[in-house]
Amino acid sequence: MLKWGVLGTGEVAFDVAYAINFVPNNAVKGVASRKSENAKWFVENFKDAKAFESFDALINDPDIDIIYVATPNSTHADMMRKCIAAGKHILCEKPFCLHEGEGLEIKKMANNANLFCMEALWTRFIPATQQVINKVKNGKIGQLRFVKGSFGHIFNKSRCFDKDLGGGVLFDLGMYLISLSYPILGMPDDYKFAPSYGSSKVDEQASFTFSYKSGIIASFQCSFLNDLENTLEFYGDSGILKLGPPFYRTSQISFDAQHSPTGEHQKEKRKNPYGYPGPMRQAPYFKERLKPLLPSKTKVSNVPFKGNGYHYEIEEVYNCIQSGKIESDILPLDQSIKVVEIMNKLYKSEPVV
Ligand SMILES: NC(=O)c1ccc[n+]([C@@H]2O[C@H](COP(=O)([O-])OP(=O)(O)OC[C@H]3O[C@@H](n4cnc5c(N)ncnc54)[C@H](OP(=O)(O)O)[C@@H]3O)[C@@H](O)[C@H]2O)c1
Repeated sequence: MLKWGVLGTGEVAFDVAYAINFVPNNAVKGVASRKSENAKWFVENFKDAKAFESFDALINDPDIDIIYVATPNSTHADMMRKCIAAGKHILCEKPFCLHEGEGLEIKKMANNANLFCMEALWTRFIPATQQVINKVKNGKIGQLRFVKGSFGHIFNKSRCFDKDLGGGVLFDLGMYLISLSYPILGMPDDYKFAPSYGSSKVDEQASFTFSYKSGIIASFQCSFLNDLENTLEFYGDSGILKLGPPFYRTSQISFDAQHSPTGEHQKEKRKNPYGYPGPMRQAPYFKERLKPLLPSKTKVSNVPFKGNGYHYEIEEVYNCIQSGKIESDILPLDQSIKVVEIMNKLYKSEPVV
């Protein structure tokens, strides 16, 4: 039995604690918060779990094997340092930390102490997401040309708008798009960031673009102020793969081989040096141009999805610890740290006005 301690009693702590108890041989045994009444309320929903008076008391309890860190972004690094000092394995909420330097320090500490450590970027472990990442890497859509994605929901949570707690839409939502495409794209060669700051002084919505020497462009949007399309799409020279909506919690994969640059319907056009079959105002041209907008040729497949979706990352943690691994092959710490580095490069790339 893997005995879990949960730091924080917020929204995601509750969902992940539920997922921990959903996975056989895993159980929430302790919960801590700044306010003990919150921890007491929390454990009413988790039989066998004890409410602790402080974060330190839970971290140092000898009966706990692993700590799930679910406190605000700015607290992650310090919480992890304490967990490692107490000899605890770690699952830490996203983003792993705020600065790549502290991420590297924590990786070194955890590795040296032979403790398991992973970022809780749950979407990376969802079967549909894994399938799409693997299909793109294995050439299902041919040569990758373009990636686009968006993540936006109306948020009013105070920590998201508090710079001191590591708030901002890039670190909260934009990072999912970066993390999911990182295993395919790696580090960008150029960065463009167009944020909009609210009265809170954090980025509340943003558009950002990465370019790569290979010619690939990746273009993303994220927002606390609007619900966006919430899909993630990979465009190759022989097909398009799309996750979602919503991409972050999906069983749905769409595949379209028809409308790619080398797809069947393009072959005729290629014979024509002007790229279209007649004068621009002729109906067939417009019909041809509209084809990519029509869903009829798109194959939609459903990859079964169980539970509330968070248990896939818990299964990964459990399997790794059982087999003596200190990092996940699916989401190694280097990748979590690179995602933090990319976000900081975006902030730095912003022109000073
Ligand atoms: N994986 C996901 O799907 C997902 C979704 C949402 C958020 N997250 C991540 O999970 C973390 C928590 O997010 P949330 O939305 O659950 O936040 P939340 O609902 O605001 O809860 C935050 C928790 O942290 C505690 N806390 C607040 N300020 C603190 C501070 N200064 N020092 C220590 N503890 C503090 C609060 O404790 P009290 O009880 O003492 O007030 C509360 O229990 C963030 O890092 C976020 O990025 C992940």
